[in-house]
Amino acid sequence: MKQALTLPKLKAMKAQKKPIAMLTAYDHPSAMLSEEAGVDMILVGDSLGNVVLGYDTTVPVKLEDMIYHTRAVVRGAPNTMIVTDMPFATYRLGPEATLRNAARLMQEGGAHAVKLEGGAELSDEIRLLTSAGIPVLGHIGLTPQSVHQIGGYRVQGKSSEEAEKLLQDAKALEQAGAFGVVLELVTEELAAAVTHSISIPTIGIGAGRGCDGQVLVYHDILRYGSGIRDKKMVKSYANIGDTIRSAITEYVDEVRTKAFPEEKHSFPLDQSASQNVTKLYGGEGK
Ligand code: KIV
Repeated sequence: MKQALTLPKLKAMKAQKKPIAMLTAYDHPSAMLSEEAGVDMILVGDSLGNVVLGYDTTVPVKLEDMIYHTRAVVRGAPNTMIVTDMPFATYRLGPEATLRNAARLMQEGGAHAVKLEGGAELSDEIRLLTSAGIPVLGHIGLTPQSVHQIGGYRVQGKSSEEAEKLLQDAKALEQAGAFGVVLELVTEELAAAVTHSISIPTIGIGAGRGCDGQVLVYHDILRYGSGIRDKKMVKSYANIGDTIRSAITEYVDEVRTKAFPEEKHSFPLDQSASQNVTKLYGGEGK
């Protein structure tokens, strides 16, 4: 049986240059299929706001949403390490609230670790959480919860000042006790430099080939949804959205034309009861 990854094993994967495969999941079937496929870690990302709940950004996602979805994921992937996003502002309301909110994700949701978006400014929060036994995954580069401040989803760390800040942020997260760092939408060269500069694994999304691992969004790699936009950083491995739409279209059509259900989908009465029913209804209704 598959064994859930532990933090020491994760660190060893970096040392052994063994790439880490992480994928998001938000419910029981996506978690089950991801575990069966052998992902190393599942992220219950607040991207669920976009791909599951239909919001434009991750900002409206609530702690309760994350707990609810994490529970389903944990039930679906009991042998996989599950990291859950702390949603917008839930770790920026002071130490007590930060600890309480992270603890709820672990105690009520069943997450093994939490992820926070931000750099050196979160050092105190990360120290607080890790000293309470809550493993923390950092997330720098493009941080979607700050999209209104950043002014859009664009590649980060392009100028030398931005690059220097990103490198310092990664080091600060390591020093504060994070067990890894997600690098989102960062140039390939910078992501590789960060990866070489810290001893904890980097997990890239749109950060090129030099990271210790990769993470993508479940719905993106499967094109699960309607009108999924092409993104340069994403590779799609299936087109589930088209498959689902055409299957539902066929179902609707068959119901309307009475091609479904067929005799094989129906449950016959035994013969004596059947005669009574025929008498009662005069043989109509079939
Ligand atoms: O919410 C999410 O899915 C994420 C990944 C994109 C890293 O944070």
